Order: sequence, then structure tokens, then C-alpha cells
Amino acid sequence: MIDSERVEGASKASGNLLLEIRNLSVDYYAASGTVHALDDVSITLERGQILGLAGESGSGKSTLAYAITRLLRPPAEILGGEVLYYPRKESEGDVRIERLSHVAKKKRGSGRLELNGHTPEPVDILSFTPAELRAFRWSELSIVFQSAMNALNPVLNIGAQINDVLRTHQPKMGGDARKRRIGELLRLVGIAPDRVRSYPHELSGGMRQRAIIAIALALSPELIIMDEPTTALDVVVQREILTEIMGLRERLNFSVIFITHDLSLLLEIADKIAIMYAGRIVETATSGEMHRQPRHPYSYGLLNSFPTIYGPRHRMTGIPGSPPDLRAVPPGCAFHTRCPCAFDTCSTITRPCRERGALNEYRTRNSRFSRHARGGRWPGAYDGANPGSGAFAQIFSGAGRQAVWR
Ligand SMILES: Nc1ncnc2c1ncn2[C@@H]1O[C@H](COP(=O)(O)OP(=O)(O)OP(=O)(O)O)[C@@H](O)[C@H]1O
Ligand code: SF4
Ligand SMILES: [Mg+2]
Repeated sequence: MIDSERVEGASKASGNLLLEIRNLSVDYYAASGTVHALDDVSITLERGQILGLAGESGSGKSTLAYAITRLLRPPAEILGGEVLYYPRKESEGDVRIERLSHVAKKKRGSGRLELNGHTPEPVDILSFTPAELRAFRWSELSIVFQSAMNALNPVLNIGAQINDVLRTHQPKMGGDARKRRIGELLRLVGIAPDRVRSYPHELSGGMRQRAIIAIALALSPELIIMDEPTTALDVVVQREILTEIMGLRERLNFSVIFITHDLSLLLEIADKIAIMYAGRIVETATSGEMHRQPRHPYSYGLLNSFPTIYGPRHRMTGIPGSPPDLRAVPPGCAFHTRCPCAFDTCSTITRPCRERGALNEYRTRNSRFSRHARGGRWPGAYDGANPGSGAFAQIFSGAGRQAVWR
């Protein structure tokens, strides 16, 4: 993985961490073979941040979302890792800590977790019991599923579905208070409160998506995972919903993990972007860095897979080949079979992009790469104003590969 040290370092230093995923690995035991869907994934998310997760289909984005929320079911198995959640400090006087404190107190006996005065220790979501998970989900973490529009119960009106969440997770809330909260939530997501008795089939796709977001917001969670929340909508409605989500985040200050194929969208909305390939995170960077100076050839390929509105026209090339079968991930760097910058050791050493020896070898062979690897700007690299004109683009288009890289 190519980490943006500035990103990860800053997260830890600021002490404002919300979520820290450490070395998470997940397999699916399918009849046709074991699918290595997540391999040693580590990433952090700060409070109030939007983390964008991008990658081709099958790269493991949804698996990561399900693992964080503990929604994975057999044949999936979490092989190892931690998903650490950092509760708000007690000194911030937030009611959330009360909700989570019973989780932490229960853990105290086991010696694993403690609410340590004003600085609560992180809690490992993977070690929660079912009761702890129930207390945690929705109130701290909620998810908008990839197929969100089909996630509503077709035989209950949307008011009843929001009411269900409130009644289950806030049993002390009276009927009138719940009614008020339902109206408030519908208004918040741009649905007229008089639609409270509408059934999902009476709503447009955009309204159903808004209703799902209202459910996700019902208990004011700290973190919402949105797995391709707008994919099935037309671009106009997509834009409306995204504007709504961004507005809500400004007002309510929750964090978001936003999953999409659309890297151009993430450049607009995310604070930090993680690129996934074959179950691994290959690069993390702030969206500014990702836009100006992608460091991993796969990120560069993704960035060059969408056109710009401005600048000269150029032929879109995409990334040659297809993602690997995760039952048989290629050895070494999983991208080596498609990477135009691949060198000999890429097929044997895991992630040689990050390893000094391999980099040195490549630097010796190609002086352009050494400038890139030292953090200097890749000559003629992707330029938001004019992507596709640089040396990297020539490589992806096939033209000049030999001339430039060999
Ligand atoms: N229940 C399952 N059994 C076996 N393999 C699975 C199962 N669910 C997912 N997979 C495999 O795990 C890998 C990761 O899938 P995942 O759904 O996480 O990818 P994704 O990045 O979300 O893709 P998309 O962008 O298409 O939603 C894929 O190879 C997929 O085929
Ligand atoms: S194949 Fe080699 S050069 Fe290409 S991304 Fe992988 S490690 Fe880097
Ligand atoms: Mg998915």
C-alpha cells in the first residue's frame, strides 16, 4: 500500500480518531474455492471526516463495510484484525458515551476495554457480544446499503419503519416524542412529513433513498457507512441526494465512509480517499493529493478512466485487463498483471511499490520513477485540468510504454 504519511500521521497525531481498522482480513469459503476478499486492510477515519472508498467491482469494498458493521454471515469469516472505535471523550458531555459506557463497563472485567476517566479507550467492534452490537448499531454506527432502495420493508409505511428503529433502540422514548422525531427526520431529508404513511412503492427512487437515509440518521450516529447510495438513481437525483447528504453532515457533523466506483465524485466530496484493489488498500491520500499527485499506478488508471469537461479531448483508455479472481490472487503485487509500470520483482515481492529494495531497483532502471517515489511530481503526470496528456497516460494507452519505461 502507498500510504500518504501526511494523512495517517495527522489522524493519529490529532487525537481525533473515530475508527481505526487494523490488519483486517476476510475470506469467503465458497464451494468453488476460498475467496480472499480482504487482505490485511488498515485504515483510519477521523471524527467528522468523509472517507471515500473506491475500486473496481469485486475489490472488497462492501465486504469491508459489512466487516466493520459485523454484518458478515457465513461463508464469510473474519480471519484477523481489529476494528477499533474511539468513543467521544466523557469531558465532551455527550450522551453517546452513556450509551457506549455499558459496552465498555461490561468489558472491564475481561480487561480488554475501559472507560479510562476522561479518555475512553477504543472498543474493538469485532469483540462485541450480540447485545453490545445491538446497543452500538444505529446509535453509533449506521449503514446505507448498496441496494438501499430495496432495503425498505414493502408492507410497512415509512413512518412505521422509522418508528421501529426508535422503539427498539430508545425504549424510553414516548409515542408523541417518536412521532415528533419521525416528522423531524423526514423534513431533514427533504420528504414532506405528510408522506409519513406512504408505502415504499408509492415513493420515487430518490424519495426511497431519502427515507433510508432518514432511518440511518434516526439515532444521530457518529458514523454512517454509505455503500453506493446513489448508484441506481439518475444523475439529477444523484446530485440532489448528495447535496442533501453533504448538507446534513455539515449540520449534524457525523463521519461518513462513502463507497463508490466513481472516483471523480470522491474527489469532490471526500476528505480522504482509499483505493482498493483485490481486497487490499493500495493507496490512501487526501482528495487534494489524490487529484494532484496519485502515487499508485492503479489510482492513476482510475483517475484516467473518466473524462474532464474542460481541456482538449483525448481517447479514454481505462485500465487494461480485469481484476484478478480473488480465489487465486496473483503473487507479489496483485496489480502486476495489469500494471504498465511493473518490473521483475513485482510478481514475487508483496507490495514492492512500498519496499525500498524494489524501489531502488526500479529507480536504477528508470530515473522518472525515482522522482515520483521521492514524492516529487511525476513528470507529465495526471493533471486535473488536462488528464491523459502525461507520460503515465501514454503508458496506459499503450503508446510509448517501451520507450518510456524500459
Ligand atoms: N457470499 C459470498 N460468497 C463468496 N464470495 C463472495 C460473497 N460475497 C462476496 N464475495 C466475493 O468477495 C469479493 C468482494 O466482494 P464485494 O462485494 O466486497 O466487492 P465490491 O468491491 O463491493 O464490489 P461492487 O463494487 O461490485 O459492489 C468478490 O470477489 C465477491 O465475488
Ligand atoms: S506492479 Fe509493481 S509498479 Fe505496478 S503497482 Fe504493483 S508494485 Fe507498483
Ligand atoms: Mg459492493
